Amino acid sequence: MTDREHTPVTVLGLGSMGRALAEAFVKAGHPTTVWNRSPEKAAPLVELGATQYVEIGDAVAASPLIVSCLTTFAATLDALRSAGATLSGRTLVTLNSGTPNGARELATWAAGHGAEFLGGAIKNVPAAVGNPETLLYFGGARATFDRQADTLRVLGGDVVHLGTEPDLGALYESAVGATLLPALLGFFEGAAVLTARGHTASSMVHYSIKWLQMIESLLPVLADEIDTGDYTKLGASVGLFHAAIGNDEELGAEVGIDMSWHAPMYELLRRAIAQGHGDQSITALIEVLRKPVSAT
Ligand SMILES: NC(=O)c1ccc[n+]([C@@H]2O[C@H](COP(=O)([O-])OP(=O)(O)OC[C@H]3O[C@@H](n4cnc5c(N)ncnc54)[C@H](OP(=O)(O)O)[C@@H]3O)[C@@H](O)[C@H]2O)c1
Repeated sequence: MTDREHTPVTVLGLGSMGRALAEAFVKAGHPTTVWNRSPEKAAPLVELGATQYVEIGDAVAASPLIVSCLTTFAATLDALRSAGATLSGRTLVTLNSGTPNGARELATWAAGHGAEFLGGAIKNVPAAVGNPETLLYFGGARATFDRQADTLRVLGGDVVHLGTEPDLGALYESAVGATLLPALLGFFEGAAVLTARGHTASSMVHYSIKWLQMIESLLPVLADEIDTGDYTKLGASVGLFHAAIGNDEELGAEVGIDMSWHAPMYELLRRAIAQGHGDQSITALIEVLRKPVSAT
């Protein structure tokens, strides 16, 4: 085992995700220091072999690599402010959600205190930390990423450098994450429809997975249409989706389900038709998204 595999690591933030990160480092044999605003949450990690500091400056001073997993960039900056001087010469890695602007502000602050910075995101749940397929991606200097990649791979086998801009992790986190709530709402709506008729939500899981796999197979085609701006190829047109609005509304009324969350999607379809995209691929909706209502 090389020295790099044993890089001492400090984990800041011991919520659901931070606890899992710290545990993975301890179990992989890294000397692991932990800090949390509410110190009592560190107890199970100390039991596993982590060292706890109550002062964040002491925790930062303990390791060359600091992995922070607080709720937001603003919270991270607030918590770290008193430890700014101690950060010099160390690498700060963030694994929280947030806006690209928040990532840039923190990166600038860290650079001002002589620290290297990688703005990252972990695209999975705490239980998946350490799994070979778990994805983490990072923005920041290539050399910093290369130096830390082996250690970061303890958290997930699929560790990616997106580019040198420090906010790229946050940008991709927002872009990729945008699918989550609409996809879950669609699943919940389907479950509401079925349970209203006495069927279980579980009865549709097999079919929903097949449906999601179909969507998965379409993504490269849709992305290519967007990147080339050619909306003439795919079978499902804006008009086809527009025509189905009435079916959705009728279904909602028939089974007594609140489908009001569809309204903004219907509105997008109507605007796409009004803007002449009716015969184009559904991908042409991106042209409507690119013209916010206030700009049309
Ligand atoms: N959980 C997931 O499934 C998951 C998956 C991917 C990414 N993430 C991301 O990981 C980050 C952490 O998520 P989580 O699930 O671990 O959240 P969580 O369980 O709610 O924990 C939040 C952590 O942030 C700390 N914190 C919040 N505000 C703070 C402040 N002002 N000063 C100091 N500490 C503060 C909390 O400290 P206290 O304990 O003192 O309150 C706690 O350690 C989020 O950005 C989340 O989006 C989470």
